[in-house]
This record gives sequence, C-alpha cells and structure tokens, in this order.
Amino acid sequence: MMELKWVWFLRISVMSVLLVLGDACLEHERIALLQLKPFFNHYNELADWDEVKGSDCCRWRGIECNTATTNRLIGLSLNSTRYKDEGWYLNASLFLPFVELKSLYLRGNAIAGCIQNEGFEKLSSVLSNLEILHLGRNHLNDSIMLSLRELSSLRYLNLAENRPEASNHPNGFQWFSRLGNLETLDLSGNGMMKNNILFHMSGLSSLKFLSLSSCLLEEHLLHIQELNNLTKLRYLDLNNNNGIESISNQDGKQLKLINLEQLDLSYNQFRNDTFSFPKGLSSLKSLIMRYNNLQGSLDMKGLNYLTNLKHLDLSSNRIESISTQGLPSLKSLSMASNDLQGSLDVKELINLTNLKKLDLSNNHIESLQSSEDDGKKLQHLSRLEELNLDGNLLNNSVFASLNGFSNLKSLHISGNQLKGSLDLDAFSSLRELYVRGNQLRDFVSHKGLCGLKNLEVLDVSLNAIEGILPHCFGNLTSLRKLDISYNQFSGNLTPLTNLTSLEYISLSRNHFQIPMSFLAHFPNLQFLLIDENRMLMEPSFYTSVSKFQLKVISMSKCITSQELGPKLPTFLYYQYDLRYVDLSENSFSGTVPMWLLENNTKLEYLILRGNAFSGPLSLPSAPNFKVSTIDISDNRLQGQVPSSICSSFPYLGGLFLSENLIEGNIPPCLGGMKELLV
Ligand SMILES: *[C@@H]1O[C@H](CO)[C@@H](O)[C@H](O)[C@H]1NC(C)=O
Ligand SMILES: *[C@@H]1O[C@H](CO)[C@@H](O)[C@H](O)[C@H]1NC(C)=O
Ligand SMILES: *[C@@H]1O[C@H](CO)[C@@H](O)[C@H](O)[C@H]1NC(C)=O
Ligand SMILES: *[C@@H]1O[C@H](CO)[C@@H](O)[C@H](O)[C@H]1NC(C)=O
Ligand SMILES: *[C@@H]1O[C@H](CO)[C@@H](O)[C@H](O)[C@H]1NC(C)=O
Ligand SMILES: *[C@@H]1O[C@H](CO)[C@@H](O)[C@H](O)[C@H]1NC(C)=O
Ligand SMILES: *[C@@H]1O[C@H](CO)[C@@H](O)[C@H](O)[C@H]1NC(C)=O
Ligand SMILES: *[C@@H]1O[C@H](CO)[C@@H](O)[C@H](O)[C@H]1NC(C)=O
Ligand SMILES: *[C@@H]1O[C@H](CO)[C@@H](O)[C@H](O)[C@H]1NC(C)=O
Ligand SMILES: *[C@@H]1O[C@H](CO)[C@@H](O)[C@H](O)[C@H]1NC(C)=O
Repeated sequence: MMELKWVWFLRISVMSVLLVLGDACLEHERIALLQLKPFFNHYNELADWDEVKGSDCCRWRGIECNTATTNRLIGLSLNSTRYKDEGWYLNASLFLPFVELKSLYLRGNAIAGCIQNEGFEKLSSVLSNLEILHLGRNHLNDSIMLSLRELSSLRYLNLAENRPEASNHPNGFQWFSRLGNLETLDLSGNGMMKNNILFHMSGLSSLKFLSLSSCLLEEHLLHIQELNNLTKLRYLDLNNNNGIESISNQDGKQLKLINLEQLDLSYNQFRNDTFSFPKGLSSLKSLIMRYNNLQGSLDMKGLNYLTNLKHLDLSSNRIESISTQGLPSLKSLSMASNDLQGSLDVKELINLTNLKKLDLSNNHIESLQSSEDDGKKLQHLSRLEELNLDGNLLNNSVFASLNGFSNLKSLHISGNQLKGSLDLDAFSSLRELYVRGNQLRDFVSHKGLCGLKNLEVLDVSLNAIEGILPHCFGNLTSLRKLDISYNQFSGNLTPLTNLTSLEYISLSRNHFQIPMSFLAHFPNLQFLLIDENRMLMEPSFYTSVSKFQLKVISMSKCITSQELGPKLPTFLYYQYDLRYVDLSENSFSGTVPMWLLENNTKLEYLILRGNAFSGPLSLPSAPNFKVSTIDISDNRLQGQVPSSICSSFPYLGGLFLSENLIEGNIPPCLGGMKELLV
C-alpha cells in the first residue's frame, strides 16, 4: 500500500516537473488567458484557446512565450477582434498575471477606456518589462493618459485613430512627459486640435519616431519651440494636416532638429515660394512632399542646405519644370503626377550625379531631349538604375534619348504612344521592362529583345501584338515574371518551356493553345493567369504531381466542351497555398470542389461561376476566416443553403448562388454578417 502511494507520488511529481519545465505554458497564465478570452473572442477567432487542462497556451493564436528560459508569456496580440462594436470598458488588471509581458497589442477593439480603478496604472509596478503597447483604432479619449502615465518602461506607444476630441481632460496629454523612455509615439488619425498636443511633449527626451499625421493640426498649433526640444527625433510625420504652409512660425523660429532623418509633409499646403528649408535639418535624408501646392517652375535652391538628402518625393503637385543645383547626395527623386510638359531637357538633371531612381510618371512629357554637345555630360546619369516614364506622351524616339543611361535596370514606359516594334539593342543590362498599354504590333522584329539576358520582368500586356512567340524568347532564361496578356498572340508556347524560373505567367486574352503539360515546366510558378485561351486537357497530366504551389489561378473561359463537362485538373488537389481561384465558364462537372477551401486555408476568392457543378453545397469542417467571396452562380447546385454557412465563413463579403436549383429558406443568419455586401 505504502509503495503504491510512493509510486503515485513519484508519477505526479514527475508529471508536474514536466509541466513546469516542458514546452508547455504556465497553468496560471493559461487560466488568466481564458479569463480574457470572452472579451476578445467576438468572431470566435480565439477558437484554439481551448479549455482542456494542460493545453499549451504558448501555441495559441496571438501568444508569444519566452521559450528559451521561463516559458512565460512575453507577447500578447489581440488585434481587431471587435472593431465595429460600441465602445466598452477594459479591466486592465486581467493582464496582471503576465509579469514578463513585453508587448501588448490591443489594436482595433472598440475599447473606450478602463473600468474605474482597473486601469493600466495597476500594471506599472508589476509589468516592469512592458515596452510595446498598441492601443490604436479604439474609442479612447485623452483621459486614457491618466492611466498610462506610470508605464515608464514603455518604449513604443501607439494611440493612432482614437477619439481624443471627446475629452473631459482638456490637458490630458500633459501626462505624456512622464514617459521618459518612449522612443516611438504614433498619434496619427486623431483630431486633437484643441489639445495643443505639442505643448506637452517636450519631456519625451528619448523620442525618435513621432507621427502626427492626420491630426487636424493647424499651422499655429505647430509649436516649433516644443518640437525643437525633441532633440533625438529621427522621424517626423506631419502628413495630411490642416494645410500647414511652412515649418517656421510667425516670429521666424525655425525647425532645428539636427538628428532628423525623415520628414513627411505630404497633403499640406506648401507653395513654391515657401519651399525653403532651414539649416537646422542638416541630417535630413528623406523629404516627402506629395500632394502640396508646389507649382510652376520649381527652384530647388531652397533645398541646398540639405546636403545629406537622399530621397525627395515631390509627386502630385503642379510643377512645370525643374532646375537642380546641389543635392549631390540625392539617390531617388520623384516628380510623378505633376505638370511637366513637352520636351524635357535631361540636362537639367546632370547635377544629380548620384541619382539611382527617377520617377517622372504621369506627366505630359512628349520627348526627352539632351542638347547634342551634352552627350558626355549625360554620363553623369549613368548611375541611374530605375526610370519610370509611365503615363506620358512618349513615342519610340525615347529609346534613342535613353542611350546614355547605360546602367538602367528597370524601365517603365507603360501607357505612352510607342508603336510598331522597339529597338532595345542598347539596354542589355535591363532587368525589368514595362511597356504595357502602348500600340506595339510586330513582336518578332523587336530589335535586341532576346538579347536582354538579364531580364527578370517583362510586361508587354495590353498592346496589339499579333503572331507567334519568337523562338529566341527561350533565351530569356532569367525571366521570373512574364505578362503578355491582352494581345493577339497565337500558336504554341514552346519558346517559353525553357524559362523554368518563371513565377508569374499571364497569357490571358490571347489565342494560345495551352496543353496542361505546359505547366510542368515551371517548378516555381505562383501566379497563373490564362483566361480566354484554349486549354487542352491531357489525360496524361492528370496523374502527375505538380512541383509548384500556386497562389493565384485564373483560367476563365479556357475550355469549350460540347460533351459532358471535364473533371477538374488534378494538379489542383496538390495545392495548399491558393488565395485566388477563378475557374469560371469552363463547363467543369462533378460536385462543388469545396475541398479547395479545406486544403487552402488562405483562400479569399473562389469563383466557380458558369460551370456544371452539381449536388448539394457541403461546407468545410473548420471555419475559414479568410474567405471573402464565393461565386457558384450558374451551376447545377441542389438542396438547401446550409445555415452553418455563416459560421463557416464569418468574413464573407460576397455570396453568389443565383441560377442554380437551390430550394428552401435563405438562412436568417446571413442578415447578421457584418462584412456581407452582396
Ligand atoms: C497586431 O497589430 C500590430 C500592429 O498593426 C502588428 O504589428 C502585429 O503583428 C499584429 N498582431 C497580429 C497577431 O496580427
Ligand atoms: C478586474 O479583474 C481582476 C483580476 O481578474 C479582478 O480581481 C477584479 O475583480 C476585476 N474588476 C472588476 C471591476 O471586474
Ligand atoms: C472619456 O473617457 C472616459 C473613460 O475613460 C469617460 O468617462 C468620459 O466620459 C469620456 N469623455 C467623453 C467626453 O466622452
Ligand atoms: C525646451 O527648450 C527650451 C529652450 O530650448 C527650454 O527653455 C525649455 O526648458 C525646454 N523645455 C523642456 C520641457 O525641456
Ligand atoms: C510660384 O508659382 C507661381 C504660379 O505658378 C509663379 O508665378 C511663381 O513664379 C512661382 N515662384 C517661384 C519662386 O518659382
Ligand atoms: C549645376 O551646378 C552648377 C554648379 O553649382 C551650376 O552652375 C549649374 O547651373 C547647374 N546646372 C543645372 C542644370 O542646374
Ligand atoms: C516623336 O515625338 C516627337 C515629339 O513629339 C516628334 O518630334 C517626333 O517626330 C516623333 N517621332 C516619331 C517617330 O513619331
Ligand atoms: C539565343 O540563343 C542562341 C543560342 O542559345 C543564339 O544562337 C541566338 O543568337 C540567341 N538569340 C539572340 C537574339 O540573342
Ligand atoms: C532552350 O535552351 C537550350 C539551351 O539552353 C537551347 O538549345 C534550346 O534551343 C532552347 N529552346 C528554346 C525553345 O528556346
Ligand atoms: C485536398 O483535398 C483533396 C480532396 O479532399 C485530397 O484528396 C487532397 O489530399 C488534399 N490535398 C492537400 C494538399 O491537402
């Protein structure tokens, strides 16, 4: 008897030692998580937080444990579990058991505040490692700061998109100044005009990243002096405020942040005559001024103090011409979506000797011009690697003007007026060529195309190219992405079978004959778009296992079969990474392939419209949170719509079941689905 007791004792203690030292999480943390679960399990997203004793909570969704030593919780992520709801009040004491917690993400939960006496202040003495707190997208007003001010270990605080305007603490943000270790503060998307927020930040002496975008800040609320106290600031985002026109105040006080590296001033009201930048920003590397009022002839002299500037984005203004002096460090310049017109003199850019990336897309440029005697000077631009000329009025002569750009790796000339065939002889270093949406015709005679041995991306879609694929296409063995959709190609695809690195193939809307076995050549294929060609079903390929794992397959109107519809190609049985499937208008038969949803847990779109699928609609066994659109209209479905469809696809946005033989009632639960639009 005695011995038996000992055996039991030993067994139990060995088991509990295993429980403590094994991989499993601590029991009292598991129980504490289960107490949190009802508040964050609105759509049953925490289904795997199960109540079975001994279940390892370190493996649950949203949990991160310190697996190296203590097995205690260090990360808890409870994002977007009820963002569309009415506001509710959180009991922050529920986090007290997690004494090693480092990061807590509570984004998008409609939290309006904390229960009285159960706020975050309770955590300050216990959770001494808490560094990351994400409270973005809730319903908080600035009285939350009263509760956060003691969390002195915080290094990252996100309060973006809350409701501080509904406040009964007019100076709520004054408590910021206690968070002396804070390095990142995101207050974007908060209309906090009234709170004079910048007045209260000067105590944040460690702050490096500050976002005040979309805060309805007006210029007089930009307290330059207080900003200047944030001496360690490296990143400042003031984008989309109430028409800030300059970053110096009335009495001429200028921004002086000698460590600032990135400044975003997009969506404000900067005009060309205020385009001057103070000496105090000498470390600035990146300046973004999209969507302002810069107009006319832009003199960039004002930027000359920014000797370290590497990245300048002036897109979406009304600039008509540029003249660049200085800025020898500039590596990337965007002038996209401005009013550059007519003939652009490339000479204007010769002082940008380090430029690697230039974006001139969506202007009205008719030609690039470089005065004859400048042939040599253009070599200054020989460092240019990426040039975007999309959406202009350029014709084929542009290729002659680009001759000096000998290092070009990526060239975008989509949506221009290229005609006939191209002369690409001078561009052998190209890796990416985009000429979508022009009027190119004759492909075979493109000079030098097959010589682009380094080409990885080729997009000639939406042109008027006729005829067969040239045989020398097989030389482009580095190609990863090929898009020749929306042309008039015909014939077979043999020249492509050498291109075994292809990951993306789009042949849609041509007149190709595509044998199923063609796919076997591409072990890395992820995107296959072959709508409106002719697919040849080959029985031999039905049995072979494919090497590729597709993310996207679109093969609408590929099979026109008079007889009883064909079965689905078997390679689909081996796919488990699909996100988008369109097999519409193909007369496929058999039962509805709902197994596609079982096998592919990331599938979002399943489009089976216009086939001959029959039988009742059977649903996958586990709920699928990704599915957003299911279209099985125009088939031969029978029976009823199962009412479990709502819990199977909680985020369904579109459900199409018309033109079938379905009977019975429409499940009432569909009326309660929050994302359902159609
Ligand atoms: C929660 O949201 C934050 C911020 O968007 C993100 O960094 C984090 O990875 C998210 N967690 C999960 C589990 O999605
Ligand atoms: C908040 O949670 C703690 C810990 O579970 C609990 O002791 C306390 O009673 C709760 N407070 C309220 C007001 O529910
Ligand atoms: C601000 O939030 C607190 C709770 O944290 C709440 O008591 C108060 O009513 C809110 N103020 C306004 C004006 O909504
Ligand atoms: C901010 O800087 C000014 C002068 O640069 C100084 O007088 C003031 O004390 C600083 N404020 C804080 C809170 O550090
Ligand atoms: C600013 O733009 C206006 C309107 O286009 C123009 O008249 C003026 O010359 C520009 N000023 C400078 C300094 O470029
Ligand atoms: C290039 O810089 C030199 C020296 O600063 C200047 O004289 C010249 O006008 C600049 N050229 C252009 C096109 O901006
Ligand atoms: C291309 O456009 C330029 C400028 O509009 C024009 O001068 C030239 O004649 C055109 N060349 C061709 C081949 O159409
Ligand atoms: C393509 O490669 C073959 C040899 O593999 C070569 O004979 C032919 O000239 C190449 N075509 C082009 C256009 O470079
Ligand atoms: C494929 O490449 C081999 C050599 O790498 C070459 O001999 C053959 O002609 C190529 N086939 C096609 C269709 O280009
Ligand atoms: C996909 O589902 C089919 C039918 O249920 C099954 O035969 C196949 O093994 C599954 N494939 C994967 C990769 O799960």
